[in-house]
Amino acid sequence: MKITFIGHSAFILQDGGHTVVIDPFIAGNPVAKHSVEQVQAMNVSSVLISHAHGDHWGNALDLAQGDTTLIATAEIGGYAGSKGVTNAIGANIGGTVKQPWGSVYFTPAWHSSSFPDGTYGGMPTGMVIEFGGKRLYFAGDTALFGDMQLIGDRGLDLAFLPIGDHYTMGPQEAGRALDLLRPKDAVPMHYGTFPGLDGDPQVFAAEARKRGVTAHLIQPGETLDY
Ligand code: NI
Ligand code: MN
Repeated sequence: MKITFIGHSAFILQDGGHTVVIDPFIAGNPVAKHSVEQVQAMNVSSVLISHAHGDHWGNALDLAQGDTTLIATAEIGGYAGSKGVTNAIGANIGGTVKQPWGSVYFTPAWHSSSFPDGTYGGMPTGMVIEFGGKRLYFAGDTALFGDMQLIGDRGLDLAFLPIGDHYTMGPQEAGRALDLLRPKDAVPMHYGTFPGLDGDPQVFAAEARKRGVTAHLIQPGETLDY
């Protein structure tokens, strides 16, 4: 499979048959190299949204058109439906949504969630995503929390972890998260986009190395073959 980093916490997963986009913050993303039109042209199967903040909800409405499913909490699914998305799937923490490409299981995240217009977005989430024969954990925006141990018990190939600090855990705490999650590989995210998100990916890479986890520092616009 291919993992393309749009920038911030936005990723594109592709396995040759399907394309899944996570937290599609594209327009207004200061580090993004992709345009909304470029991503729209990728024949996106599903858009996954971790929570309603503008830097994650992003261009969800531009991508979730036609047959494309939008998958998130009930509150986000309902909001998307009210904005004209016809294939919005509202689930919640602890539940699994199956799709032709795989599945997404929603986990807790310690954060908050409201839309740019102030509408309450329900609980923020992380996700365990089965895609391309791999089990991926996308933490969303979160603090370190002990129940990451339970998520790790599922057996993870790769964890996407926020390291920027200020709104989420920083690189050292993300290292502690690796103790609980026990993935083989990790990708840091949610850093360097805005002032204040100054968690250092090299610090995270060193924390990962100490634990025998491979950190992949993907630059915006670049693709990791995984
Ligand atoms: Ni957030
Ligand atoms: Mn965020």
